[in-house]
Amino acid sequence: MRQLAPLLRTRRMTLADVPGVMDIEKEAFTNPWSLEMVKKELTNEWSNVLLLEESTPWGWELRAFAIFWIVADEVHVLNVATHVASRRKGFGRKIMDEVVAMGRARSCTLATLEVRRSNQAAIGLYAALGFRTVGMRPRYYADNQEDAAVMIMDL
Ligand SMILES: CC(C)(COP(=O)(O)OP(=O)(O)OC[C@H]1O[C@@H](n2cnc3c(N)ncnc32)[C@H](O)[C@@H]1OP(=O)(O)O)[C@@H](O)C(=O)NCCC(=O)NCCS
Repeated sequence: MRQLAPLLRTRRMTLADVPGVMDIEKEAFTNPWSLEMVKKELTNEWSNVLLLEESTPWGWELRAFAIFWIVADEVHVLNVATHVASRRKGFGRKIMDEVVAMGRARSCTLATLEVRRSNQAAIGLYAALGFRTVGMRPRYYADNQEDAAVMIMDL
């Protein structure tokens, strides 16, 4: 667990957090990950699921999550989402800053991801962090044949 500010902290997902992550996931994506897919991330040693929580009068509430793999010297970001009512408040940037910091702490030199080319919010977030588009994977997403933009950042 890491305290980012008096009212903000990050921590790793546990099994008990999976339903809350699924609530955000289902709202965020037309083709969401299944419960089984999210749970599976708890069992892969290369996988990391990071939660960003905000302190409220009712306790710590989940605002955003990020799923990423660390393989050799590369951080590969698979999934990032902010609760729909909490967007554009800096939570996406904060959790991605932590992802990058965790990668650097593990001596990674590169961060990579794929993103739907129409996803302006996510591309905007990644570009603001310093990712750059280095190519396109045509018809990468099976559901609607959409291209993926491949983005990378040197760490
Ligand atoms: C992409 C997403 C995670 C951004 O989360 P967020 O918490 O709203 O992002 P932040 O508030 O930290 O925004 C940081 C920067 O990203 C960019 N950005 C965020 N939302 C944007 C939007 N709708 N349009 C353009 N740029 C956007 C901006 O540069 C923003 O900085 P600014 O607010 O100072 O202009 C969120 O929109 C989301 O959950 N989308 C659905 C899931 C998704 O598509 N995930 C990514 C694919 S894996």
